[in-house]
Amino acid sequence: MVCNERCPFCNVPAEDFSTRPMPIEDIRAQIQDFVAGGQQTLTISGGEPTLLKRLLLQTILEARTAGISFVELQTNAVLIEGDYAAALKEAGLTSAFVSLLSDVPVLHDQLAGLPGAFPRCISGIEALLDEGIAVTLNPVTAAITAARVPDYVDFVAHRLSGVRTISLSAVQPHGRAAKNLDLLPDYAVLGPAIREARRRADVHGITLLNPYCGLPRCVGWEDGAHCAEAAEAAEEDYQAPNVENVQANKLHGAPCRDCGLRTRCGGAWRAYWDRFAGSGLRAPLPRRTPWEGGEGIRAFNGDFPAGWAEDARVGVFLWVDRLRAEDLPKLRRAKLRDLAVEGWDRETLRTVRSLLATPEPLPQRQFRVAWLLPADALLLERIGLLSVIGVDTVFLEGTDGRLSALAALLRGQFPSLTIKQG
Ligand SMILES: C[S@@+](CC[C@H](N)C(=O)[O-])C[C@H]1O[C@@H](n2cnc3c(N)ncnc32)[C@H](O)[C@@H]1O
Ligand code: SF4
Repeated sequence: MVCNERCPFCNVPAEDFSTRPMPIEDIRAQIQDFVAGGQQTLTISGGEPTLLKRLLLQTILEARTAGISFVELQTNAVLIEGDYAAALKEAGLTSAFVSLLSDVPVLHDQLAGLPGAFPRCISGIEALLDEGIAVTLNPVTAAITAARVPDYVDFVAHRLSGVRTISLSAVQPHGRAAKNLDLLPDYAVLGPAIREARRRADVHGITLLNPYCGLPRCVGWEDGAHCAEAAEAAEEDYQAPNVENVQANKLHGAPCRDCGLRTRCGGAWRAYWDRFAGSGLRAPLPRRTPWEGGEGIRAFNGDFPAGWAEDARVGVFLWVDRLRAEDLPKLRRAKLRDLAVEGWDRETLRTVRSLLATPEPLPQRQFRVAWLLPADALLLERIGLLSVIGVDTVFLEGTDGRLSALAALLRGQFPSLTIKQG
């Protein structure tokens, strides 16, 4: 875990870990367990692994000899020159993930905490590329570099033309960064910069990635291409710990409530909501109920159309006028995301309550229910019931001024509910 740089944002700073290197015998045993577990890719990180040249080369060789086909080194690259790169290649290194923190030398050095780091990092990258080792760059975008992401991409295309991939991470509020929160970029600045950077990267033939622990979808990644969280959540029968955010250090906030991408996006860091109050975050694909013209699959009178379970994607409501207890298993199996209910009877209410009460240990509720209610004498009682069972949206039928005033009152009384009318 020892390091030759002192990045003020480092998420695994040396001061928080023991810096004693592991003996090669222990590394070998770990690699054997790793391979026995069916793993095919290994990333070696730190600290700065290149400080321990002999151990690093031995580790790479052990991993390749054990049959691991992809071995990546995470490095700041300042120690890598021609001979070192050749030795890495000979040991079998396939790929390097390099922290080039800015295209501007003084900004890179400031973020690396090491004067003179920039030219050494650039020549390290060149040495790796000269050896045919694939290089992915990691800029760890910070407040002072957020607006420059498009220039970074241009710089890479012109100065480091062998680089084909940039992992567009941004400072996560962990380790030292948790104590230096002014390093976090404002997403209102970063979103437009990422959109422009992606446009330029396309022209240059460079792939930009939104890695794990990366950016919310509305910060320039609306289409979901090359987004780790989105890819994970799209997997058949997925368990998406990053989107569901089991650790709860990323959260959905107010703009996410009505976001059609919420099941493919983990939201923003808790520290980001606290510090920036969600600046720059806005639902790119608004979730609209069928009563507002949103997409709905009609399953009235218990008549579920063929293919409804596949069609009920996020943002596409299953739209029912009643539900029966026997509908529960198929609704649960369908992993329903959005349900719109109109009509009122006890069994429907009980069925929706059971769906919402399904033990869900996850902090981010993905299943959401909207209910259409007439503005009659039972309105208050019904809204009270719906808010208790966890319905999130109530749609009031009618547009007159008195109803608007009532809706405003109800919003004050039931803050957990979204109350719409029309
Ligand atoms: C801890 S570093 C160790 C490897 C090496 N010393 C380096 O600087 O690349 C591992 C990776 O985490 C990235 N990283 C460190 N702190 C981070 C943070 N707060 N947010 C996002 N990425 C971070 C680094 O840029 C690097 O790619
Ligand atoms: S609004 Fe929320 S859920 Fe939607 S893309 Fe932005 S952060 Fe993600």
